[in-house]
Amino acid sequence: MKVPAPGRADPALGTRQDVGVSEDHFGEEVAAVYDADHEDMFAPEVVGPAVELLAGLAGGGEALELAIGTGRLAIPLAARGIPVSGIDLSAAMVERLVAKPGGERIAVTLGDMTTTRAPGRFALVYLVFNTIGNLTGQDEQVACFANAAAHLEPGGRFVVEVGVPDLRRLPPGEDARVFAHAPGYVGYDRYVDLVGQLAVSHHFVAGSAGLRESATPFRYVWPSELDLMARLAGLDLEDRWSDWQRSPFGAESRSHVSVWVKPGSPAQK
Ligand SMILES: C[S@@+](CC[C@H](N)C(=O)[O-])C[C@H]1O[C@@H](n2cnc3c(N)ncnc32)[C@H](O)[C@@H]1O
Repeated sequence: MKVPAPGRADPALGTRQDVGVSEDHFGEEVAAVYDADHEDMFAPEVVGPAVELLAGLAGGGEALELAIGTGRLAIPLAARGIPVSGIDLSAAMVERLVAKPGGERIAVTLGDMTTTRAPGRFALVYLVFNTIGNLTGQDEQVACFANAAAHLEPGGRFVVEVGVPDLRRLPPGEDARVFAHAPGYVGYDRYVDLVGQLAVSHHFVAGSAGLRESATPFRYVWPSELDLMARLAGLDLEDRWSDWQRSPFGAESRSHVSVWVKPGSPAQK
């Protein structure tokens, strides 16, 4: 296990640096089953194109993953020779990352991605898998953009992968929508506050131990609102695709991968 440098919290101790207002919805119970529950997201055809795009955007520079979790993308990105650091709120998730082969290469700072600083300046900061939504207030999302920008060197890029709000599929008078159902799994989103853009994702997973239920609140956010957050943080929109394969983004796109750039040229190294 990597010994955290001074100023970094030790995941094994469960301590945090610069704890913000965010609630930890990824405690021990969730972390223990995270990789198995999201097996499809760990598939090479999902991870490969994301890592390919991120590696290209990092150039030869360093990368920082906000909400790094168990290292789904960070570990394969580091295996490509990109130095990767991370920030995450959950000690339980980070313990899983550290325990994996290649996890020892990744320096993780425990804390809230709205406020926590990781040592270094980065060519690439990225936040994937809808996790901007885990910040359930507009202020927190704005702060996250500011924090991402503060970690970037001039010319550096901030990448966000997030779904487009699914509101067009919600008929008037209804407040919930099933987004996935498969043998042993049902997931639905319940829209609890259309003014504050708040919803809760409910997941029901059937396993040998019975039915497991979890619920995670999220703030859904439109691409244009993210562009304003980026602008507030001094970043300019560079690209927006509907997936990691750089497919064009349009009115029917269900999600997007957006890239904002910090003006300026990288310092000579
Ligand atoms: C859906 S998982 C994504 C993990 C990883 N990025 C991936 O793609 O598999 C969400 C992660 O975000 C972290 N997280 C949620 N809110 C956070 C916050 N405010 N600051 C830092 N990490 C946060 C959770 O602890 C969890 O590890």
